[in-house]
Amino acid sequence: MKGIVLAGGTGSRLFPLTKITNKHLLPIYDKPMIYYPIQTLVDAGIRDIMIVTGGRNSGDFLRLLANGKHFGLKHIAYTYQEGEGGIADALSLCEHFADGQDVCVVLGDNIIEKSIRGAVEAFRMQADGARILLKEVHDAERFGVAEFDGDRIVGIEEKPKQPKSKYAVTGIYMYDATVFQKIHTCKPSHRNELEITDVNNAYIREGTMKYSFLDGWWTDAGTFESLLRATNLVAASKPQSERAAASAEEDAE
Ligand code: G1P
Repeated sequence: MKGIVLAGGTGSRLFPLTKITNKHLLPIYDKPMIYYPIQTLVDAGIRDIMIVTGGRNSGDFLRLLANGKHFGLKHIAYTYQEGEGGIADALSLCEHFADGQDVCVVLGDNIIEKSIRGAVEAFRMQADGARILLKEVHDAERFGVAEFDGDRIVGIEEKPKQPKSKYAVTGIYMYDATVFQKIHTCKPSHRNELEITDVNNAYIREGTMKYSFLDGWWTDAGTFESLLRATNLVAASKPQSERAAASAEEDAE
């Protein structure tokens, strides 16, 4: 299985922080945002990874990540998304990289506490189709939201005013190789983007979409509130000893 981190876009909801740099290079506590989704993939045993960049300062990703030594990787692949085509458009740039294999896609601003290894293993056991990770939230209207009939997922609505469940679709998606054909059949949405929710609904219609629930906390980091929440969650999850050592180092400088 190959890994993909989507780190394009203009980050307009974080202006002016993103006026001169890419959202995914901003700090979340003690690391650049992009470190977290890469670590999510590496922790799940996925080592062949492509980063889709875009927008401003995309060359900085290469300077920051190089060949992935920090993550124990020997190589990272990069590609560039022009414009604001949406998540599914960014993913479509990885067709050549995927080369017919399954992919695990993580949005570059999605930060999680625990491992997704269990869900990745469950997807490996699936014959085909897709698997998404769901999380119960209090502000479902901010996300793609799952609709159920019993245990069966029957649809996903993107940012519904009246969510049909409390389960947000997190930005971690696993797809078989048919994902690229499905993206090619998508039409731009009202915000003129190819929506990942349309791709997921294509799998639901086909009857091949499965889901797992995400363990531990999850947050995105694309707004001022969620950027702060991400920093606070990461800081709070560090052992007290590590935080004390970090501030002692700061004092010494
Ligand atoms: C995107 C997806 C949405 C998903 C969310 C997770 O929203 O469109 O379905 O729930 O990521 O972070 P965006 O952050 O692009 O508004």
